[in-house]
Parts: sequence; C-alpha cells; structure tokens
Amino acid sequence: MHHFHYRDNRMFCEDVPVPEIAKNVGTPFYLYSHATLRHHFLVFQEAFEGVPHLICFSAKSNSNLAVLRLFGSLGGGLDIVSGGELFRGLQAGIPPDRIVYSGVGKREDEIEYALQSGILMFNIESHQELELINRCGTRLKKKAPIALRVNPDVDPKTHPYISTGLKREKFGLGMESATEVYKSAAAFPHVEVVGISCHIGSQVTEIAPFVDALHRVKELIATLETFGISISYLDIGGGLGITYDRESPPHPNEYGRAISEALGDSAFTLILEPGRVIVGNAGILVTRVLYTKKGETKDFVIVDAAMNDLVRPSLYDAYHAIEPVVRDQRETIRADVVGPICESGDFLAKDRDTPRVEAGDLLAVMSAGAYGFTMSSNYNSRPRVPEVMVKEDQFYVVRARESYEDLIKGESIPAFL
Ligand code: LLP
Repeated sequence: MHHFHYRDNRMFCEDVPVPEIAKNVGTPFYLYSHATLRHHFLVFQEAFEGVPHLICFSAKSNSNLAVLRLFGSLGGGLDIVSGGELFRGLQAGIPPDRIVYSGVGKREDEIEYALQSGILMFNIESHQELELINRCGTRLKKKAPIALRVNPDVDPKTHPYISTGLKREKFGLGMESATEVYKSAAAFPHVEVVGISCHIGSQVTEIAPFVDALHRVKELIATLETFGISISYLDIGGGLGITYDRESPPHPNEYGRAISEALGDSAFTLILEPGRVIVGNAGILVTRVLYTKKGETKDFVIVDAAMNDLVRPSLYDAYHAIEPVVRDQRETIRADVVGPICESGDFLAKDRDTPRVEAGDLLAVMSAGAYGFTMSSNYNSRPRVPEVMVKEDQFYVVRARESYEDLIKGESIPAFL
C-alpha cells in the first residue's frame, strides 16, 4: 500500500501533484509520502502487538532526519552501523536507549561515541571487537551493554550481495564459537551481556528462513543459560522483502505471527531492525527525460537521474518499475532507460516496455525509498538530488539539492601547485 496514485492521469503523492513539485524543486528528486511511511511503521509495530518489542529502524535504508524523526515519534528506535548514523539518530531526537549498533568494523572512536551516548546495545561481531569495547569501557569507566551477533547459517534465498546469514559470509560469529565468546564476554569487567542478535539478509521473501534462524538462536540461548548467561534482548535483524516487480513477500502480520509463535512465551524483549519494508515503497525518484535516441539495436530513453542517484539497478541488476508521471495514450516501445553517466552500467531499466516518452516528460522510478538516496554519490561530479516529503496537500524539502560549491567543500589546492 502506498500513496502514489493517479488522478485524471496525473501522478499525485497524497494530495500533491508530482509535476507541481518538479516545477518547484527541479529534477531529479526523491519523494517520500509521510502517510505511507507512517502507515508502514504502524502496521509493522501492530504485527508484534502481543510481544514486548522495540522496532529499531535500519538507518542505512533511509537516514533522512525527517524520516528518522517520524519513526522516533512513533516510538521507534534505530539500528545504526556507523558514528555518522548515530549522529543522525541523535540529531533526529531518537533516544539513545533505543539505538542498537551493528556492523563488522566499528572503529574505536565510533565505539567511544556510542558508549558516551548511552546506546541500548552493541551487536558485536568478533572477539577482537569485544576486547576493544572492554578497553573503551575501562577508559570511560562505563559498562558496555552487548549482544553477540551470531550467524545462524540459514539461506535467505536472496541476492548474494545482500545475503548475510550463511557461514561463508563475513557477518557475525559462528554458532559453535559464539558460546566461547559469550563466556569470555561474561568475564570482562566493562562489558555486560544483555542480548543476542542475528540478521540473515535483505529482501527476503519467505518466512521459513527467519523462523529457522530464530529456532537456532533459541537453542543457543538455552545453552548459554546452562552457563549462567542470560539474555534480555533478542534482536532478529531486518530483511523482510517488498514487491518491486512480481515478488509476493509475506505481509508483516504474517511475519509477526510466525516470529511470535516461534518465540513462544519467553521473557525477552524482541528487537526488530526493518528498513526496506518500511520505507521502500514509500519513496520514488522523479526524473525528467532529456533525450530519446534510436540506437542500432534498441531504443534509449536518456533521463537526468543516473546510477549515482540510484545505484540498485547497476549494482544488483535490481528491478524498479518506471511509470510516466502523466499518463496518456502512447504506443509502447522497448527501451533502456539510462542516465548521463559515462559507464555502460549506468541504467535504471533494461529492455523495458515503456510508453513512447519524449524529451521533457517526467518519469517516476518506483520503490526507491530504501537504499536510494542513502547509496547515492557524487560520481561524475553530480550534486546529490533533493529529498522531498509530502504530507497531505503540502510538500517539504527535507534535504536541499547540493550545489556546485558543495561538490568541492573541504578540498584545497596545496601551495606548491
Ligand atoms: N540489520 C542489519 C544488521 C542489516 O545489515 C540490514 C541491512 C538491516 C537490518 C536492514 O535490512 P532490510 O530490512 O532493509 O532488508 N543495499 C541493498 C541492501 C543492503 C542491506 C544491508 N543490511 C539493497 O539496495 O538492496
């Protein structure tokens, strides 16, 4: 469900016509619907109604301050993976005791920042990281609340680049070594074991891998209890998929029911780290057609958005539906929708049946709210595009378009040149 729809063949976001926003802010731009973001968050939250839980929205999927503020105001916390994401979360007003810190490569300064801020827990991924956190705790005279991220070795059946729960991946600790690391953690004076975590992958469209992972983690918790180590927080990560094309992922209710059932009547607080399922379909990327061109073997629609703005098609061969912002009766052509970047890998769609658009037409790249802006870059010295949020009949620029000056911010030319 989302709030991008047509009225009289013009695309609206809630009650605002998309062409009106394009006229005001120029193209390309990311556009988020407040009502959709809010609805998705609340649906997810309700899916776990019967279980004590905390939804730590995964900042990497969309870290705009306005988006984070919205989820914080609905009772959400944050899943972060860097000092930068912690900074954003705090700036957005997320209470630190609702923030969990994941990631295989936390730096010492980032650990200290998070410890000083008083986050809920560190999801630790190696023994060396545990030692470092204990040292930081000693220096700062604090006890670091920790969980170990374990790797349950289940196959999430998703794109290999976003699969994380298999033994061969860099993430987490193997189930066999986890017990030993937990014992070692329990003996460290500046570390307090509070939880366990896992995350099996992203864009997962089946329930079974999540349930399998949860059962394995529960077995480990039972083993830990025999050593006197008890767990308060069980963090099962994120990963629930969405419909980009023809996928039919489980509804959050179904996911919630399966997880709650598998959990049984245990006393843990469940932590969830959803990203994509909340924001993915709540955002689009609006772009304008610059040129159309008949190649030797196919047609090209050249638009003003490129792989630096939305890298998913180039990086994962990901499918994003592309819709005309104004619908009329045009014939359909088969074309590649490509950007201005000097790489053949710069495309938003390949061999796509699309209406015969013309220069000046607006196109909406759908399902771009997750891993869209957050993965954008300045490649080819292209300023990053604005982010706009619509609420009812108003729109708000929640991140301004970058300027040419922004592109060279921090650069300097040494005197010898
Ligand atoms: N928790 C952890 C520890 C994660 O690593 C991730 C995503 C999430 C939560 C949120 O997963 P989600 O609910 O959004 O699936 N750039 C890729 C996705 C990479 C996901 C990385 N980790 C893409 O555009 O598909």
